[in-house]
Amino acid sequence: MKNMLKGLGAALCVALPFLAQAPAGAATPAGAGAADQALVQRGAYLAQLGDCAACHTAPKGKPFAGGLPMNTPMGRIYVTNITPDAQTGIGGYTEADFARALREGVAKDGHNLYPAMPYPSYAKVNDGDVKALYAFFMHGVAPVQQANRESDIKWPLNMRWPLMFWNMAFLEKGPYRDKPGKDVAWNRGAYLVQGLGHCGSCHTPRGVGFQESALDESGSAFLSGALLDGWFASNLTGEHNTGLGRWSDEDLRTFLKTGANRHASAFGAMTSVINNSTQALNDQDVAAVSKYLKSLPPVGGNGAPAYTYDPQATKVSLDRPANNAGARVYTAYCMHCHGVDGRGFAPMLAPLAGNPNVLAKDASSLINVTLNGTGDLVINGVPSPFPMPGFAAVLDDKQIADVLSFVRAGWNNGAPAVAAAEVAKLRQSTQAGR
Ligand code: HEC
Ligand code: HEC
Ligand code: HEC
Repeated sequence: MKNMLKGLGAALCVALPFLAQAPAGAATPAGAGAADQALVQRGAYLAQLGDCAACHTAPKGKPFAGGLPMNTPMGRIYVTNITPDAQTGIGGYTEADFARALREGVAKDGHNLYPAMPYPSYAKVNDGDVKALYAFFMHGVAPVQQANRESDIKWPLNMRWPLMFWNMAFLEKGPYRDKPGKDVAWNRGAYLVQGLGHCGSCHTPRGVGFQESALDESGSAFLSGALLDGWFASNLTGEHNTGLGRWSDEDLRTFLKTGANRHASAFGAMTSVINNSTQALNDQDVAAVSKYLKSLPPVGGNGAPAYTYDPQATKVSLDRPANNAGARVYTAYCMHCHGVDGRGFAPMLAPLAGNPNVLAKDASSLINVTLNGTGDLVINGVPSPFPMPGFAAVLDDKQIADVLSFVRAGWNNGAPAVAAAEVAKLRQSTQAGR
């Protein structure tokens, strides 16, 4: 049973797409009254918070018509059409069918959905919000006739009925219930983070069945950081080095709205989350999300004291880089953007000194971003002016390991070195996925 769940989980919980997309266009609701219009609009906002477009809209594809491949170790699956087309989309869904798909992972015809669709998180969405989402998908989205593609997963792993057992083991049914003793903003933040925001689907480590090992703050692993598809989704607890402990409430709100602040910039899988989802949060909701995240107690630290900036030793190596392989690469390829002082030009150019991603134990994100650069962050329709370039073609594995080891030791960062073998591994896996 355990092994079966494990195999299944691996097939399911997959590569999350790393894309930058334009916001989805909406059709005009034909003949909808003013009250319905308001409901459709609220649904459109909720669809952004749920980041439905990140998966259901393929690059250059029609809004919500599906088709995006998601890689799994067993083969590819394709995201489905959720436009209101009666034949190929969800035009035939009643509100109850829609609610079941969203919160329980069961399609109208009764087949179980792979949890690549984050229904274990959406399970927490309340009835009022399901209604608004349904109104949006029925009346605010243009129907598109585009048939779904079968997955490439081979028999017997493609059988969906064992998912019933996965759901029995891991799905927590029932919408979010306000926690007594917490104020309105905290509860709103918890509802959004655990539910529509599905932040844990990337930021929470997975257990034996590949399930998220905690679905709310009652489990200490919740949002404590996890590796998924070559990116390490950062620790979002209050840990003071690798988590958000040194971030003020304002730093966090700025990051969610604009993808950058004085500590770090969004890259990798987070770019699409900012582009399609969190930048749309209204002021009240962004404050709620921030309040909730800032309330999470520190998890995952290594006992080191909180980071303090110290440029002295690093400046000495950068003044005489000849004897230090990492410093040589840094001066030639990185310094004009990230600075001698490691502070970059935040928020435009990310700082590396004290950056929680640089201090994190798992260096996957750093290796991946140095090899492959990052997709454009697009805020209010404007792409970032100086995206991080990829160095896969310019630097070999050892050079990348050297420069990242230098950065991880530099400016008092005190993080462990990176080995060339780790770079080689990610170079291979990220290139295979291209
Ligand atoms: C991380 C990717 C991802 C996100 C985000 C996502 N979905 Fe899905 N969704 C999927 C995948 C993959 C499937 C198909 C799964 C399968 O075939 O088993 C799916 C299936 C569905 C279905 C069932 C339709 C069908 O015929 O397969 C509905 C309805 C749906 N999603 C609605 C939504 C809504 C509404 C949102 C936003 C609130 C959303 N999804 C966000 C990946 C995603
Ligand atoms: C598709 C996967 C994915 C989802 C979903 C996701 N994140 Fe992230 N997130 C990442 C990755 C990968 C990083 C590391 C790269 C970076 O810092 O941008 C990250 C980084 C962050 C950071 C920066 C932390 C730091 O120390 O630099 C914050 C804050 C954050 N995410 C908040 C959220 C919130 C809030 C949600 C839910 C609304 C969310 N994320 C959903 C993948 C994801
Ligand atoms: C053209 C300017 C530029 C150059 C050159 C450059 N970077 Fe970056 N780097 C960026 C930007 C901008 C970001 C923030 C992500 C984004 O917006 O693309 C970034 C992000 C990063 C990050 C992730 C930190 C975070 O929180 O965003 C690391 C690690 C990094 N760079 C390392 C390097 C290394 C190592 C080199 C040299 C091999 C290098 N960079 C060269 C512009 C640059």
